[in-house]
Amino acid sequence: MELDSIKKIYAGYSNVYDALFKRFFYPRIKHAINYMDIKQGERVLDVGVGTGLSLGEYPKSCRVVAVDLSFEMLKKAKEKVGKNRLGHIKVLNMDAMNIAFRDDSFDKVFISHVVTVVPDPYKLMSEVRRVCKRGGQVVIVNHFKSSNKMVELVEKLINPVCKKIGWRSDLCLNEFIRRSGLNVRQKYMLKKLDFWHILFATNEK
Ligand SMILES: C[S@@+](CC[C@H](N)C(=O)[O-])C[C@H]1O[C@@H](n2cnc3c(N)ncnc32)[C@H](O)[C@@H]1O
Repeated sequence: MELDSIKKIYAGYSNVYDALFKRFFYPRIKHAINYMDIKQGERVLDVGVGTGLSLGEYPKSCRVVAVDLSFEMLKKAKEKVGKNRLGHIKVLNMDAMNIAFRDDSFDKVFISHVVTVVPDPYKLMSEVRRVCKRGGQVVIVNHFKSSNKMVELVEKLINPVCKKIGWRSDLCLNEFIRRSGLNVRQKYMLKKLDFWHILFATNEK
């Protein structure tokens, strides 16, 4: 998917995103951020924050920068920042494949439901690894291709449709881990049968 199509698709979702997806996405977002063990004063980057479903989960003692490509999605995130007085969170329009921060700027990075949306997940991960400190934490919540051959076939078949509605369904978890160069310490699903994985990784440089 090209950046312009992604912008158009997510501009279209912005008004209905929470109503459509919150019930599926929020429980894993909440779980993952609560397990990040974010300490006082730590700098956290939220990549592709969307409408800001994650924002209320960050402790007020840390400092969060939340970035997204879509102005319309970010408008919703900014509304949440204002309404809930989240003064520790800064929301910025940015392409996460070209992050406008210096190397080693963040202690922790959170990426939910984004690695299968960007045109190049490995460019994204190389930027994330650049701006995250050595030994910093990278946490990813995402759907990956199933290891069940039947489900994998269905996911392959529906991939062209998925791309039209804003994501790809054929990204392989093991290949993603290998090529992104993360040291994954934990990977699991919240339920026995689930669509989404949660990865806790360390940024070794
Ligand atoms: C499925 S939504 C996930 C939003 C949020 N993280 C969540 O879990 O609810 C994907 C988001 O990634 C954003 N996105 C896609 N490509 C991006 C890029 N290159 N840089 C920054 N954000 C991007 C989209 O605009 C959209 O808001």
